[in-house]
Amino acid sequence: MSEANQVAGVSVGIDDISFATGSYRVDLADIAPRLGTEPAKYHKGLGQEQMSVVAADEDPVTMAAAAALPLIERGGTEGLRTLMFATETGIDQSKAAGVYVHELLGLPNNVRTVEMKQACYSATAALQFASAIVARNPKERVLVIASDIARYDLDSAAEPTQGAGAVAMIISANPRVIELDAANGVFTKDVMDFWRPNYRAQALVEGKLSISAYVEAVAGAFSDYQANGGSDFNDIDFFSYHQPFTKMAQKAHLGLAESLGIEIDKAAADEKIGATLGYNRRIGNSYTASAYFGLLALLDTDEDLTGKRVAIASYGSGCVAEFLTGRVVEGYKKHIRADEHLEILDTRVQLDDATYYAAQQRVIEDQGNYSNREEGMLRGKGSFAWAGVEGDKRIYVRR
Ligand code: CAA
Repeated sequence: MSEANQVAGVSVGIDDISFATGSYRVDLADIAPRLGTEPAKYHKGLGQEQMSVVAADEDPVTMAAAAALPLIERGGTEGLRTLMFATETGIDQSKAAGVYVHELLGLPNNVRTVEMKQACYSATAALQFASAIVARNPKERVLVIASDIARYDLDSAAEPTQGAGAVAMIISANPRVIELDAANGVFTKDVMDFWRPNYRAQALVEGKLSISAYVEAVAGAFSDYQANGGSDFNDIDFFSYHQPFTKMAQKAHLGLAESLGIEIDKAAADEKIGATLGYNRRIGNSYTASAYFGLLALLDTDEDLTGKRVAIASYGSGCVAEFLTGRVVEGYKKHIRADEHLEILDTRVQLDDATYYAAQQRVIEDQGNYSNREEGMLRGKGSFAWAGVEGDKRIYVRR
């Protein structure tokens, strides 16, 4: 363990990591005709193939519980005293969505639970806060879950950049997957590039502004990272960027290099980011979880990444960015779930455009608060279900 990998003298990082997504998917080639464009615009222009779609009985809580269940089944609850739930898609103005997850997972009462918000960024704040808790008491472990459903107006330019998914991580001392470096860089600036007022189920966005704000914020966070003792750009082996669409990772990487006066072409960028794009290309935007889907795609590749330095570049519109790095731990391959993850993606049920469109329209009309028990609505196939709303209370069950 090098000094760079120590937070307050303790090696802290990601000990276990897993994901979940919606039970359905739509192929962007199938929605392109309605949106009056060629599939190539999405496949090449945005770098997206598919979007995950949730069933009427799935939401950020059910996906979060499904993502975290394998971690609890493998690692138990000893030392677990905190659950941080990061989301843009909160389901209540007051109660933390994580409290429902706590119940669904059967966690002990002596686990504090809290929800965190800042668009797509908050899981990275959670990761840092979790690291601080572990550095203070290395016997503690923290469950961090990022879970979101990305929704925009139907028939808008942003529609093909929707998606859904959750990533769950255990943060601990002497982690078995990634040891985080102590250095990190942060950046905040008040920008109205993407936001979602309380009365809307779908986000509002200034698309072009959001892209330039993202590139500027990541460059600002990297500059702060270096000022705080971070590695040089060229000493980082892989970069996992927040990926609202995978082409954005390329734009961000080229933009970051340019801000540093480093000349690289698209092929050189691909060597650093290509392995992080596979899951997001099929899942779409998952807001808080997106950068961590990038990390998972990288970890799940066949290549042995032992000792490689990996960066997370997190961006949340509004906006906040953070740049951090870590090293892949020897033996990590024994702890990842590449086959299970591929199976989750491969077994999603494909929807045609009309079925997907009707399901999305229903959520938007009812602001996500409808009784979802009507005949004919899409049902999920995961371990957890949102069984509806009774007396303004959301009901969740384990199947
Ligand atoms: N074949 C190949 N490529 C094509 C094509 C074709 N037939 N037609 C168009 N393209 C290319 C374009 O040249 C363009 O590529 P470049 O960006 O490399 O120039 C790309 O496809 C996109 O086309 P447009 O520029 O016409 O963009 P659009 O009007 O379709 O909108 C968008 C794209 C702005 C990303 C829109 O989908 C959007 O607003 N999405 C939501 C916001 C978003 O994701 N922002 C990202 C940064 S903010 C963030 O990261 C936080 C977050 O999660 C929301």
